[in-house]
Amino acid sequence: MMQDALKAMVARAALAYVNPGELIGVGTGSTVDKFIDALGLIGAEMAGAVSSSNASSARLTARGIRVFDCADVGEIAVYIDGADEIDANGCMIKGGGGALTREKIVAAQSRQFICIADESKKVEVLGHFPLPVEIIPMARGRIMRQFAEMGARAQLRCVDGVPYVTDNGQHILDVHGLHITNPLAFEEDVSQWPGVVCVGVFARQRASCCLLGTPGGVRTLNFA
Ligand code: A5P
Repeated sequence: MMQDALKAMVARAALAYVNPGELIGVGTGSTVDKFIDALGLIGAEMAGAVSSSNASSARLTARGIRVFDCADVGEIAVYIDGADEIDANGCMIKGGGGALTREKIVAAQSRQFICIADESKKVEVLGHFPLPVEIIPMARGRIMRQFAEMGARAQLRCVDGVPYVTDNGQHILDVHGLHITNPLAFEEDVSQWPGVVCVGVFARQRASCCLLGTPGGVRTLNFA
């Protein structure tokens, strides 16, 4: 089955986690785009959404869904987002779409994290997908050297030859050659480096559940 069809399947399955009157968190990416479209189609009666990117906010608004500022709301019932990689414990690499910082903020404010992904995202060890790290631009050289000391190679994300700028006005390094055997320790370490805004390892904010799209249907992985 095509990857696109698997994404559509898990996007529809995630509707089961949306309850009337509740506030939901909405992530970013092609899988989430399908979830937003499905929400619009069924006219879900939730209270509204908190979004992790300008792109998702625009898509939600266009489908008649009210978007709230994260800073103005309390606890969010459920956060629904994709991933670039997810391991057997629900730890993830995120940020392929560049929205990792806001994704981590909304995830931290949510009771449950439902990851929606096609089966290609399931891995044994995180790190084959280049790890996105949002940084303050002036710290770039030193952070790149710190990754080099770990045996990895950090590359400044560019689009059409110019640095990619996040919704927060910062830059992203994509780090190749990592093998992250202890995601929580790795996240805690790199998060402390001066100039790192957010590291795309989601271990502290790992998924509570993953709806994994397979040719045989949706597999629900619950993480204790
Ligand atoms: C966005 O910054 C990412 O964290 C996405 O959640 C991730 O890239 C998944 O995207 P797709 O659904 O497009 O694969």
